Amino acid sequence: MTSSKTQLLTVSNVGVSYNHRNGYVLSGVTLQAEEGEMILLMGPNGGGKSTLLKAIIGLVKPVEGWVKIMGRDPTLEPDIRRVIGYVPQLSELNIHAPITVKDLVSFGRYPYTGLLKKLGEEDTRIIEESIRKVNLENVADMKISEISIGQLARAAIARVLAQNPKIYLLDEPFESIDKPTEQMIMDILKEEKRRGKLIIVAEHHIPEKGAFDKIVLVNRRVIAYGRPEEVLTEHNLRLAYNIPDITSLLS
Ligand SMILES: Nc1ncnc2c1ncn2[C@@H]1O[C@H](COP(=O)(O)OP(=O)(O)O)[C@@H](O)[C@H]1O
Ligand SMILES: [Mg+2]
Repeated sequence: MTSSKTQLLTVSNVGVSYNHRNGYVLSGVTLQAEEGEMILLMGPNGGGKSTLLKAIIGLVKPVEGWVKIMGRDPTLEPDIRRVIGYVPQLSELNIHAPITVKDLVSFGRYPYTGLLKKLGEEDTRIIEESIRKVNLENVADMKISEISIGQLARAAIARVLAQNPKIYLLDEPFESIDKPTEQMIMDILKEEKRRGKLIIVAEHHIPEKGAFDKIVLVNRRVIAYGRPEEVLTEHNLRLAYNIPDITSLLS
């Protein structure tokens, strides 16, 4: 018997335009992704990586095409977006918010706690475990404005771990963190993959060769989508990055 995996995400012919003058920043984006996949969304700055993640989570509205999450249309059933754990780029986080690391991580539980947002014992256990996974126990009660940028990046990861989503969308999660911490987070993500989660990471470089099942190379459109060895050809990289020396991307 063959086991078929559940398709978690479908993106069909998505086009995004922020304003008429600049035209489309993304067009004709079509992707399918299933449980247990780890996908790297790669492309140059301004290529549309963040825009694509935002179109998936519904923060920007495509002018063309559609997104389905677990077969549901999020514009008709917005609650389905709860299965997505989204971490925006650090520059989009409000680091001045007067909250502690623990508060930030506890936001991950709100899809489960209802309107009163009262955390139960199980929620507290999950929050503490998530903080422990990213080694932030020693700063858990500090304000997010008082910790380092690398610690903030880890706290943002802990928040989505606490959410226990089916789909992770991580926008440049390795910006501002050192190599050992990057490896630690990659190990956590690989563990989530083994648990059947779909993980999509946007980065302009390759965090760990061999860890990703598929790569989406994007620059205003999908230049290539498939297994790393199919996508990472010199031809595709030159098309995407428009630079003469692509070797730095691969190291
Ligand atoms: N809110 C916005 N309003 C107008 N243009 C935007 C907005 N966000 C992004 N853009 C433009 O869309 C393009 C893609 O940006 P982005 O998705 O942030 O790319 P990436 O994440 O790959 O660096 C860029 O030209 C950027 O200037
Ligand atoms: Mg971006």
